[in-house]
Amino acid sequence: MDVDIRKATINDLVRVQELNLKLFEKEYEEWDSLLDLNWTFSEVGTKYFADRISVDEGFVFVALVNNEIVGYLCGGLTKAEEYRKLPVVAELENTFVLEKFRSSGIGGKMYAKFIEWCKAKNVGKVRVEATAQNELAINFYRNNGFRDYTLVLESDL
Ligand SMILES: CC(C)(COP(=O)(O)OP(=O)(O)OC[C@H]1O[C@@H](n2cnc3c(N)ncnc32)[C@H](O)[C@@H]1OP(=O)(O)O)[C@@H](O)C(=O)NCCC(=O)NCCS
Repeated sequence: MDVDIRKATINDLVRVQELNLKLFEKEYEEWDSLLDLNWTFSEVGTKYFADRISVDEGFVFVALVNNEIVGYLCGGLTKAEEYRKLPVVAELENTFVLEKFRSSGIGGKMYAKFIEWCKAKNVGKVRVEATAQNELAINFYRNNGFRDYTLVLESDL
């Protein structure tokens, strides 16, 4: 399968949002019914993705198979904790590949482009947050060199 990875342009905005909504729907159904399924195409959500595509501190990569976008990876430089002595930090904020294209290296190829982007920006640490129950995604990140750092716990009152 021929896969082309490139930076998204503003013309890809709606397709990236469509894929993000699929990610939200998956997480909503499987783990987090508090997710707002209207966020992705809201004004705030649209601005978030448009910014990540357009500003220098952000990135969105898209994966194309037969000229169709089948996955994306999005994030940007992030403000890190002031109480840690950190280098420039970038965050992989969300990523999704259509189910029938998974496990054939597309996510890994987008991740490699992200690392290239980071190196060009002098990034010294990359981070990602994942839903704790999303073991497959956590394995994907661990296989790409991430190590566990914090664990966020919640309790309903
Ligand atoms: C995580 C994801 C982007 C990786 O993309 P990919 O193209 O499947 O990645 P690769 O082919 O390079 O790596 C495959 C590995 O990713 C992991 N993986 C993570 N989620 C997976 C899923 N839902 N289905 C299959 N593999 C998944 C597995 O460890 C897999 O290894 P395997 O093929 O040996 O089973 C993709 O699987 C996906 O969209 N998952 C659902 C959405 C998600 O969980 N996103 C991350 C939360 S922000």
